[in-house]
Amino acid sequence: MRILLSPDATGAGVAAAAVIASSLGDRPAPVLGVATGSSPQPLYRALAGRVQAGLDLARATAFALDEYVGLPVDHPESYHSVIAREVIGPLGLDPSRVHVPEGISADPVAAAARYEAAIAAAGGVDLQILGIGANGHIGFNEPGSAPDSRTRVVDLAPRTVADNSRFFDGDTGLVPTRALTQGIGTILEAREIVLIAWGESKADALARAVEGPQTAELPASFLQRHDRVTLVLDAAAASRLSSASLPVDAGR
Ligand code: GLP
Repeated sequence: MRILLSPDATGAGVAAAAVIASSLGDRPAPVLGVATGSSPQPLYRALAGRVQAGLDLARATAFALDEYVGLPVDHPESYHSVIAREVIGPLGLDPSRVHVPEGISADPVAAAARYEAAIAAAGGVDLQILGIGANGHIGFNEPGSAPDSRTRVVDLAPRTVADNSRFFDGDTGLVPTRALTQGIGTILEAREIVLIAWGESKADALARAVEGPQTAELPASFLQRHDRVTLVLDAAAASRLSSASLPVDAGR
């Protein structure tokens, strides 16, 4: 895994946006995988700046990683709403080309299968943006997720419900307990992955993801199987990585 270090979250966002802009090159209609949560927000801000400066993503297709099950689409914290607010608008995407799992479907199992089919029909994801949960989850693939898992309904770990309660007035009782998420196997089929993480709360999961064994107990460790992953980290998120993992110009 390639690791890029920035002093802070804003810098990590700028660095991740540069990686993405360079990877997309002048491809007219890329397929992006987009994440929610606080991790990618500095990246989306930096990408929005590039869009204002001329990067054209109007013909991009995008697939969100996940969505809560049972949360109304128009709830401000549904990932439909978050993607509309933080991604579609700022990046100038065409809403008709942006897909989010149907968490309110009466048949979420069928919705999961439809989502996989839609990704395949689009030709697969060119570049997947990822965050990481403090327990090492990617998307909503919690500890215990298999490396070949596909889009499916999952139960959220208590730690994730607690972590995400900050988006629900701090009330864990308001956080949905199930989600539809792309599987680890689905995510690993993306041609390139850019994971952004910042803050001390991610340091332990990152050290285990990069330097530990590949294990379902730390789902992000399965990223070691992919040959085109860039981790863009701030100093706090990288603080528990051994110096051997860090870029040679990281102040050693
Ligand atoms: C959330 C999302 C993930 C995200 C992760 C980290 O619950 N489902 O896609 O990467 O957990 O969240 P945050 O970036 O807010 O720390």
